[in-house]
Amino acid sequence: MALREIVKLGDDILHKKCRVVEKFDDKLAQLLDDMYETLLVAEGVGLAAPQVGILKRVCIVLMPDEEEPIELINPTIVKREGEQHEIEGCLSCPGEWGITDRPYSVEVEAFDRNGKKFKVSGEELKARALCHEIDHLDGILFIDHAEMLTQEELEEMQHVIED
Ligand code: CO
Repeated sequence: MALREIVKLGDDILHKKCRVVEKFDDKLAQLLDDMYETLLVAEGVGLAAPQVGILKRVCIVLMPDEEEPIELINPTIVKREGEQHEIEGCLSCPGEWGITDRPYSVEVEAFDRNGKKFKVSGEELKARALCHEIDHLDGILFIDHAEMLTQEELEEMQHVIED
């Protein structure tokens, strides 16, 4: 495994649409392993391939209480229910936080690294993370639609962000 550099805001690649994965090969497995290592070091909840400079429909989500990441290849949200408005950030947008409008729960269809189709569902943080990462694959960043917090608001909410 190898660490990859996380692309930061200002790089055009973050606003590009990713290509569908057609080959479930060693290169894809390597990308997933590297993304996992990169995410662990960055201490994030999720990471999408464009954030490491690869325009492929690949992302991972790592819930704080789980050891294994959810690996999503060519994911599609097939069901959205309810709504939530919580604080969100992004490893590509350090220091930026905002309130997003997300479904409370989602169901996602995707392929695993071996090309096998599976379904995953999540609510609250997991739903936000799934939506956030899948947005990345379409070149959408949370700052494109979030209600951004000011420095003052951030200080007031610091305890929420640190949790
Ligand atoms: Co992000």
